[in-house]
Amino acid sequence: MNWVVRPTTTLRGTVTVPGDKSISHRALIHAALAAGTSRIAGFLHAGVTEAMIRCVRDLGVEVEAEPCEGPVTLERPLGLARLTLLVHGGPLRSPSSVLDCGNSGATIRMLMGALAGRPDVVATLTGSAGLRRRPMGRVIAPLRQMGAEIVEDAPPITVRGRSLQGIDYTLPVASAQVKAALLLAALHADGPTTIREPGPSRDHSERMLRALGIPVVTHDYAVRLDPIGGPLPPFELRVPGDLSSAAFILAAAAVIPHSEVTIPSVGVNPTRTGILDALTAMGADVEIADRREASHEPVADVSVRSSGLRGLAIDGDRVVRMIDEFPIVAVVATQAEGQTIVRDAAELRVKESDRIGTLAGELRRLGARIEERPDGFAIEGPTRLRGATVDSHGDHRLAMALAVAGLMADGKTTVLNAEAHRESFPNFVVLLRALGASILDADEHG
Ligand code: S3P
Repeated sequence: MNWVVRPTTTLRGTVTVPGDKSISHRALIHAALAAGTSRIAGFLHAGVTEAMIRCVRDLGVEVEAEPCEGPVTLERPLGLARLTLLVHGGPLRSPSSVLDCGNSGATIRMLMGALAGRPDVVATLTGSAGLRRRPMGRVIAPLRQMGAEIVEDAPPITVRGRSLQGIDYTLPVASAQVKAALLLAALHADGPTTIREPGPSRDHSERMLRALGIPVVTHDYAVRLDPIGGPLPPFELRVPGDLSSAAFILAAAAVIPHSEVTIPSVGVNPTRTGILDALTAMGADVEIADRREASHEPVADVSVRSSGLRGLAIDGDRVVRMIDEFPIVAVVATQAEGQTIVRDAAELRVKESDRIGTLAGELRRLGARIEERPDGFAIEGPTRLRGATVDSHGDHRLAMALAVAGLMADGKTTVLNAEAHRESFPNFVVLLRALGASILDADEHG
């Protein structure tokens, strides 16, 4: 699928974004391990979470899925990207075939953690060519320290469940996926596990476990969990909107003149709001209204009005709080006055694409002044972008960021391999169009 994007003069309106990817993954895997039926509303219905549903079912867990009700835009049903799941958790069984984790790093890493300590389960996990290239040693090394038997260092990876011991482990790089995997393994280890991180990675696992009555102790960037000695209890949970999806729309509204958009009920967990802080520091008019708590996660209605923007330096702890947002930040930076410099972000090279290399290459095609660095990039703005043909490299966030760049560029922008967006935000085009954007599938375009 290719997108054809044309200059857009203004974005206005209110849209609801799909459920949070990180919380959806965690909710499903914890529900699968619970003794009884859990209900998850607002579950993200997209490529990466379909991978998790498929794997959990292959492990013997019954998952019933139906579309959520209610309007999402003026013209489309909410069910387009949200499900209500009924998950009948219970003991996992060895799957009869290889588990296909698709493009989902969270699925393969969290499942490794969940399966490592189940002596009655043997499973082989693999995924797409892109997933097989992503680093798995960061999860496998600490799991092996816990006593896990994991064959191979890259997918396909076979996990033979074993009794595990608790460890005290310091992650070399802050990673919430690794932390989530180790916490899942730690639930059934023979002693306490402490995980230390160099920075503030997202804390959805800790919040979810606490909500289930599991005492998780956090201190600075360390988390300690004592084994629970039995299954998790079943639960009910409502997944908030994904701020990482909302970011594309909010950022577009910050830049495109005379825009004003509101996204209700979006997650504003402080470990995720780096993007809102960055936009504000760049001079964007961001309003966070009606802050509340839903299923132990902070939620709010977020609005952005367009305004003049200036460049920003982003480094240190701020990077992990917005690790998924650099593709769209780079697009915003092309329209900001002065220099935007991103440092300490080498992690971007091992995301769904090498997001430093692919971003620099594709934004340059649109006329951006961007310099690639080993651990980030520097962008000079503002630049008048000109339409061109660009490629998603199979990376969902690159596809959507390039589409937003196309809204600001002169002439026609074509985004090749745009289907990647379905991995996390299948109704991206529908929502952007509802706000007034000119974006079409090439097929519709004729
Ligand atoms: C995620 C953590 C981040 C993020 C990913 C989702 C999670 O990955 O990039 O989209 O749900 O824990 P890392 O843990 O690899 O940084």
